[in-house]
Amino acid sequence: MSLVLGLESSCDDSAVALVSRDRQVLAQAIVGQAEAHRPFGGVVPEIAARAHVDILPGLIRQVLHEADVTIGEVDAIAATAGPGLIGGVMVALLAGKGLALATGKPLVAVNHLEGHALSPRLVDSDLAFPYLLLLTSGGHCQLLEVRGVGDYARLATTIDDAAGEAFDKAAKLLGLPYPGGPAIEQLAASGDPRAVPLPRPLLGSPEPHFSFAGLKSAVQRAVVSDAHRPEDVAASFQQAVIDCMVDRTARALHHSDAPTLVVAGGVAANQALRSALADLAASNGRAFAVPPGWLCTDNAAMIAWAGVERLALGLTDALDSPARARWPLDSDADRVRGAGVKA
Ligand code: KG4
Ligand code: ZN
Repeated sequence: MSLVLGLESSCDDSAVALVSRDRQVLAQAIVGQAEAHRPFGGVVPEIAARAHVDILPGLIRQVLHEADVTIGEVDAIAATAGPGLIGGVMVALLAGKGLALATGKPLVAVNHLEGHALSPRLVDSDLAFPYLLLLTSGGHCQLLEVRGVGDYARLATTIDDAAGEAFDKAAKLLGLPYPGGPAIEQLAASGDPRAVPLPRPLLGSPEPHFSFAGLKSAVQRAVVSDAHRPEDVAASFQQAVIDCMVDRTARALHHSDAPTLVVAGGVAANQALRSALADLAASNGRAFAVPPGWLCTDNAAMIAWAGVERLALGLTDALDSPARARWPLDSDADRVRGAGVKA
């Protein structure tokens, strides 16, 4: 049984997990830094990088101890090598390199986005390639055809903000704590999604992409006007994001024969989004898969799992592999106009 130790530090979560090839998560530990970043309303890269240095070594010890496994019994070390905040990315990658060097085990330099993209296969052994993936997180909002490990075709991306970023910014406008997604979802539960008229950028557009910046500006106007209850703004905002995502995903489904629609990434933890996309898949005759919430938001089990998948194909990496701030899954995809496109 092949065992992979996964290390993650690309944003504001320090995480370690030990995962087996037969899909068992033997142990995992995650320490979020939301408290440290909360006063700033977003992640401060310098604070994040320093915190990862403090936290990660203890988590490695903890996970190995809980699984009752020695580092010598691990078959490979999988570390996120990007994309992300570069100071943070370097922490897990260098820790992984150190462990690989000390033990002689192979290093797998994992693309964080591939971690999200393959995460549903950790919990669903029947999920076969290809599938159409809506990858929606704090830094990314993309539609990809996942054809195999390391084989992605990007159909759409955002021309400005990522959906998670929009949740975080809308939450800040509403005076809600960071991260904004869970806070908005909670507040929206008691609000009316039809109460506040908000735009649906690019809805029905023949172009494939997403846009959320205009929606954020409209939320700002709604908040400043003081004419609406915060819960109604939250519910209306969440509904507008979901309408855009359903519309863009429906368009992509018309351009893909993939039998399954999958949604992954932090925003996929949103229950209303999950059920809207499940309905969309059903009405298009596609199967639907979404990982459990803990596997949607950043974690190291998905990094370890991507390591398992790559190791099985013999895809290991040299100890001089670079840390990358930017690392698109589909390197052939055209760059899209707009400032907020990270990959
Ligand atoms: O995947 P993730 O943990 O980190 C990145 O790789 O970016 O995604 C974090 C993003 C944040 O913007 C957060 O607000 C959003 O996911 N998020 C949610 C929910 N939980 C997390 N957005 C909407 N609803 C949620 N329940
Ligand atoms: Zn992520």
